[in-house]
This record gives sequence, C-alpha cells and structure tokens, in this order.
Amino acid sequence: MPNTGQRAAAHDWWRTAAIYEVYVRSFADGSGDGIGDLTGVRARLPYLAELGIDAIWFTPWYPSPMADAGYDVADYRAIEPLFGSLAEAEKLIAEAHELGIRIIIDIVPNHGSDQQPWFTEALAAPAGSAERARYHFQPGRGAGGELPPNDWTSMFGGPAWTWVGPAEHGPDGAPGEWYLHLFTPGQPDFNWAHPDVRDEFASVLRFWFDRGVDGFRVDSAALLAKDPALADLGATPTPGSSAPVNSGGTGPVLADPASPHPFIDRDEVHGIYQEWRRIADSYPGHRVLIGEVWLPDAERLARYLRPDELHSAFNFDFLCCAWDADALRGVIDTTLDAHDGVGAAPTWVLSNHDVVRHVTRYGRADTAFSMTDRQIGEPSDLALGTRRARAAALLTFSLPGGVYLYQGDELGLPEVEDLPEELLQDPMWERSGHTNRGRDGCRVPLPWSGDAAPFGYGPDGSTPWLPQPAEWKNLTAETQGGDPGSMLALYRRALRLRRAEPALTGSEQMTWLPSPAGVLMFRRGDGPDAITVVINLSAEPVDLPAGDQVLLSSAPVSGGLLPPDTGAWLTGR
Ligand code: NOJ
Repeated sequence: MPNTGQRAAAHDWWRTAAIYEVYVRSFADGSGDGIGDLTGVRARLPYLAELGIDAIWFTPWYPSPMADAGYDVADYRAIEPLFGSLAEAEKLIAEAHELGIRIIIDIVPNHGSDQQPWFTEALAAPAGSAERARYHFQPGRGAGGELPPNDWTSMFGGPAWTWVGPAEHGPDGAPGEWYLHLFTPGQPDFNWAHPDVRDEFASVLRFWFDRGVDGFRVDSAALLAKDPALADLGATPTPGSSAPVNSGGTGPVLADPASPHPFIDRDEVHGIYQEWRRIADSYPGHRVLIGEVWLPDAERLARYLRPDELHSAFNFDFLCCAWDADALRGVIDTTLDAHDGVGAAPTWVLSNHDVVRHVTRYGRADTAFSMTDRQIGEPSDLALGTRRARAAALLTFSLPGGVYLYQGDELGLPEVEDLPEELLQDPMWERSGHTNRGRDGCRVPLPWSGDAAPFGYGPDGSTPWLPQPAEWKNLTAETQGGDPGSMLALYRRALRLRRAEPALTGSEQMTWLPSPAGVLMFRRGDGPDAITVVINLSAEPVDLPAGDQVLLSSAPVSGGLLPPDTGAWLTGR
C-alpha cells in the first residue's frame, strides 16, 4: 500500500485539483439558439467559482461539422461560430483566471475533420501524393480494390475505412483509395509518422498556451501511433465486453493480447508526449497535459505519466467499477500503486460526456459501466442511485489525487433514457445500426432555474437542442442552492472542506483501517488534522469510530451509526 506522504508542492496544482468538465453545447445558452455557448459559460463563471472548483475542462470548442459533437475539428486555431469567437474565448480565459479558475481545453490529435483543409486537399490530390501522406490512405484489397485495406472496425461500429472512389477512378481505371478513421468517416486519422502532423500539433499547442490556457485534455491519447504495416487484427469486435480497451467505443481487441496492438498503446506514442511535455514546460505557470487513456492495464497507463510525459490521466477503472467495496478497494489500490511507481498523482472520476450518468448506474442491479453495453432501459432506482452518488462523491473527494466532475454531477442529474429516437444525434446510434442509443442521454442541457424548460439554460421561449425532462424542475441549481440537503449543497461543502483540510489536499498520505465487510475505511493525513473516511456500501448500518466528530456526511447520522450507502468524513479534533 503506497504511503507517499509528502505534501504536494504548491505549484503542482493539478495533483489535487478539482476539475469541472464543461460540455459547451449543453452547459448554458446565451444566444437563445438552443445550443450552449461561451456567453453562457461566462455568465455562469461565478456559479463555478462558488462551487469550489480549481479548473474547467472544455470539450472541443473548435469549428466543426459536428460529425462527433466537435471531436471532428475543422480548424484547431478558432472557435466554433455556434459557440462564439476567439475574442470571446480570450475574454473567458481572462475572466476565469480572475476568479482563480484555470482553463483546460480538449485537443484532438488522433483525427481531424473531413472538412479540414488538409483533408480536402488530400482528397483532391492523387494516390501517393504528399497531401495524402498526412493521413492513412491505402489501396483496397480484392481484385478491383473493392475491399477495405484491413479488418479494423470503427469504435462506433462499422468499418474503419471509407472508400474515396469511384469518383477518382483515373483514365487507366485505377480504383480509388481508402482512408482510415477509427471513429466516424468524418474523422480521418492523422499519420503521426509524418513530420507535418507533429509540427502542426506542436504549433497548435503553442497557439493556445500563448492565449493563456493552462493545459490540454488529450483525446484518444493511446491511439495516435499506428503499425506502419496496418496489419490485420485477426480478431473480432467484442460486443458485451465489460472492459473498454479503446477510447470512446466498441473497438476490437487482439486475439493475442500479448502482441503489440496495431493502433492501441503502441510504444512509439510516448515520443509524442515527451515532445509535448517539453513545450508545456517551456511556458510559465505550470501548464498541464491530461490524457484520455482507456487501457485495462494500470501499469501500461502509468507509462503515460512518467515525469517527462503527461501530468495525469483519467481513472476509467474507477469510473467503470461497480458500487462494491471490494471491487472499489481493488481499483483504488491498483491505481495508487501504479501511479506511485512513476511519481504521478492519481485521479478519480465518476462520470463524463461519454458514459451513463452515475446516479442512474448506481440505481441499477448491475452498477458497473461498460461502453459496449450501456444497459439503456434497465430499471434504475434513482433514489438509491442518488443516495449512492452522494456517498461516492465523499469517497472520490477524499482519495489522494485530483478529481473530475462532469457538469450536472453536482445537481445529481440522472441519465435521460427516453429521448425520442428522431432526436438522437450521437453517431453511435447510426453506426451501431440502431442497437446502441449512444451518449446523448448524458448530454441533455443543464437545468439552472425555473419550473419549466428551458430551465434557465437559455432565454425563456428558446428550445434546447435536446429536451429536458419536466421533473428536472426539482433539480435546478436555483432550487438546490436554497436547500442545505441538496446534492449541490453537499458538493459545495465537500469541495470547500477538501480544499481547506490539510489532510485531504495538503497531504497524499492514505492508510486503510480495519473495517467490516462492505465498508471502506481509511485515514487521510496524520496527527490532529487527520481525517477518517468511512463509506458504507453494505446493507446494514455500521458503527462509526467512537470519539470522532462528523465533519460531513452524505446522509444524516445518528446514534453513532452510519446508514447503508452513506459516507462520512470524521475528525478527532
Ligand atoms: C473520446 C471523446 O471523449 C469522445 O466523446 C469522442 O467521441 C472520441 N474520443 C473520439 O474523439
């Protein structure tokens, strides 16, 4: 059990930061067109400051045809006009900084948009041209080149290759080429062996660092390097797998997991992040790189967090874990061990814009999350899920390391599982042949105030891009702000205490304490400031340690007993 103990250096802000994910399209709509924007975010910065977060992570805000909600970037140096302008982004960065909030933005290096000038130039250029070399263009297989170059499938279902013929059949009748896209056809993969690609992204990083952003969340970070042979996988996709091995989707795994994968977690990828780290370190103010690295092996994940690579990465094992004390303890220990080995700070995350909201997951019979089986429509007891989500917040916020919140976590929003099919926009829905409803249910616009849609998300009379459930009138930020028993009140209090208590963010020390089955109990810090954390995942009330005072609990505690699905922070002071 690691016991790193040392106080995080003051400048290592990311080691303990609470980072709030803003999914721009659904956060707040200032213009009234139904789509969230930067004006909306700027108006809500005081809310975020009051919540007690240290940084915002923005999902992609770049111009995009929205084949995958902005993860298909057409211009890496501008702002999507629906969201605002570069000048407004600069204002937002400055205003956030004035409030003590840092800004992290998404960078999407594995793939661009098919509307990006490089790609339109590549399509216009002949096979074998310099323009095509920045992507993975290949002749097809079969007598007439009519079959994809290999057997890779896209993360969202369907082939990972799109044919650019027959329009480009030359006078000699040569068949057209195919291009690789691990996600939708609108997201062609870059060829990271090409120096133009490396130079372009180095320049994009500098562009935004020059504008004051404090860091980048690196999309699909384990996928950039490809086997130059583009060899067949020789394996079938893994529907139903409970361990997502790929970023954001349903990709295939290798038949022989010991051999290097042709596009996941290849060793060459690390050279890219070493170069990016040098760029980040060349700026003042401790800029950070945060990896979206979905890997089943914590040791392989930790390789991305070596001192000369990324600063931190999302802990998807924790996010996917069932609401089960043994399973969670296993993930916590594996995480701490692997991160300790490279001196990196762990992170803890419960939800994001790709997964089923945890209030809904924790209310189901099967509380684990799998990207390939989202269990949409499985019954969920939302009162139970909410109770567990409250306890999970106290667990997450008391572990050593950084924490990520997804917008709406603090309001206890559930997944919206009954969106009408004709409104679904996530490419997963189409690409899965309408078998996977995708991620729209966790992307429904936030309820801020009032009794009816749009609940202050946009001006009265505006229509949010996805409909908000009528019941959300009970979950608005306004309603919860006035209720000391609300999820919002719990988040505010927990984040404030977390920041103030030396045992929680001034120390990385954590020690497990003996506890009954189904209960997680550990001590953070030492001496009079130590905090004992007790999370009861069992079906029975458990005794709290005698003599300690309850600093914060996720449900009322009386008679020295902690009820089921409840968490508490205790102090001996
Ligand atoms: C991960 C992002 O979180 C997800 O939303 C996106 O679809 C894929 N990467 C592709 O960029």
